[in-house]
Amino acid sequence: MSKLIAPSILSADFANLEKEIQAVTAAGADWLHVDVMDGHFVNNITIGVPVVASLKKVSQIPLDVHLMIEKPEKYIRQFVQAGSDYLTIHVESTENPAEVLKEIRRLGAKPGITLRPRTGVEKILPLLPLVDLVLIMTVEPGFGGQEFMTDQVVKIEKIRAEINNQKLNCLIEVDGGVSDKTLHHLSQVDVLVAGSYVFKQDYAQAIKKLKG
Ligand code: DX5
Ligand code: ZN
Repeated sequence: MSKLIAPSILSADFANLEKEIQAVTAAGADWLHVDVMDGHFVNNITIGVPVVASLKKVSQIPLDVHLMIEKPEKYIRQFVQAGSDYLTIHVESTENPAEVLKEIRRLGAKPGITLRPRTGVEKILPLLPLVDLVLIMTVEPGFGGQEFMTDQVVKIEKIRAEINNQKLNCLIEVDGGVSDKTLHHLSQVDVLVAGSYVFKQDYAQAIKKLKG
């Protein structure tokens, strides 16, 4: 299967999001990656529920919403109602991630789990049967344009082995520093998030290179 590409709108022109979405979609994007940050879980504030709802109105492709917020349980209902197709939470952000993931599914979205680079991969292994998406962060969450952390690649291998062992069918996604230069680490990945790499050049060319 060829990889799915999810451009991160964090690197798009926020004054022209509708045009940007149309442009990356025409350029071959499969999903739209939406980074939600609250200034507490990470040192940055980005967008919230109303913007996700507005993106949904103009997007023809699924919204892949990455919550970098504390206590996601307080907001998942709103993010699902706003139109999140995939809704991913951080394992560190809540006391009971299993319950939050089950609730996301009950609400009608596809649950995803992710972890900070310094969090051990064993923290998410028990959650794999509950999710449709596992997101491996290859930068410290908070900002686009950072350097890919090669020491995180081993997590991809462990997750792939576990998915095979348990015969699960969740997708593996990688987020942070993804480019043509780091692609060779990512052969076992299903979905590539790319912000600065896609938005800083011709979108179609960037997406074509990432699809390999
Ligand atoms: C970082 C975000 C990423 C970010 C990736 O916290 O989760 O989605 O937009 O940006 P690049 O591809 O520029 O590293
Ligand atoms: Zn992200």
